[in-house]
Amino acid sequence: MALRSTPSDLAKALTPHTKWVLLNSPSNPSGAAYTRAELAAIAAVLMDFPNVLILTDDMYEHLVYGDFEFMTIAQVEPRLYDRTLTMNGVSKAYAMTGWRIGYAAGPEWLIKGMGAVMTQTTSNPSSISQWAAVEALNGPQDFIPKNKLLFQERRDLVVSMLNQAQGLKCPTPEGAFYVYPSCAGLIGKKSPSGKVIDTDETFALELLEAEGVAVVHGSAFGLAPNFRISYATSNAELEESCARIQRFCASLG
Ligand SMILES: Cc1ncc(COP(=O)(O)O)c(C=O)c1O
Repeated sequence: MALRSTPSDLAKALTPHTKWVLLNSPSNPSGAAYTRAELAAIAAVLMDFPNVLILTDDMYEHLVYGDFEFMTIAQVEPRLYDRTLTMNGVSKAYAMTGWRIGYAAGPEWLIKGMGAVMTQTTSNPSSISQWAAVEALNGPQDFIPKNKLLFQERRDLVVSMLNQAQGLKCPTPEGAFYVYPSCAGLIGKKSPSGKVIDTDETFALELLEAEGVAVVHGSAFGLAPNFRISYATSNAELEESCARIQRFCASLG
C-alpha cells in the first residue's frame, strides 16, 4: 500500500498549468514521512518545472520516531529555496491548537502578498497568542523528546493492536500522530446487523454504530479503502478503542 507520492506520480500530475505543489511530511492523515533521498527525487522532478511554487507544511516536524530524521525540501534542494513556502505552527509539538498560530517563511514577494490579503480579510491572531507562540518557540524544548517517546509508544501500541484485528493491515508510520490502516480485507463482509461493508465509509459508520469508536474514512482523504485514527490520546483510551475495533472486525462474516 503506497502512502507516499513517487517522483513518477508527481511527474504525471504536473502540467504547464500547475501553480503549486503541496507537500506535507510527516503527513496528516497517513503519518508517512519522506526521507532525504525521497525528497531529493521529488525535488529533481520539480527542478524541471521552474514556474511551480512549493508549499511544504512541516507541522509535524518534531514528531518523528526512532531514527527517522526530519527533512524539508528547501534544505534538501537549496535551488528550490526561492520558490518554496515553508509552513509550520505551534498546534502540534507545543500542544497549542487553540491558540491558532501558524507561520510561514518564503519569498518576499509572496509573504508581502499574503500579508496584504490577511490584513484585509481576517482579523489576525491576537497579540496574546503571538507572544505565547514566541515563548513556546524560544523557551525550553526539553518536553519535545519526552512527548516523542510517549507518542512513539502509542503508535506502536495502536499499530500492533490493529494488525491483530482480522482483515486490517496497518503500516508503521514514521511520524505525526495518525495511523492509516487498510480495511481492504473486510470489504464484502457483513456486519451482524446484515449490512455489507462495501466501502471504508460503511466500515467507519458500522464501527461507530456497533462499538462507539469514531474513525475517519480514507476516501475523504483520497486513498481508500483505509481509515485514519489519531492516537493523540491516553494509552488506556487507545487500548479500549483498539480492543473494540478488534471485536468489530471479528464480528464481520
Ligand atoms: C498537516 C497539518 N497542517 C496544519 C494543521 C493545522 O493546525 P492548526 O489549524 O491547529 O494550526 C493540521 C491540523 O490538523 C495538520 O494536520
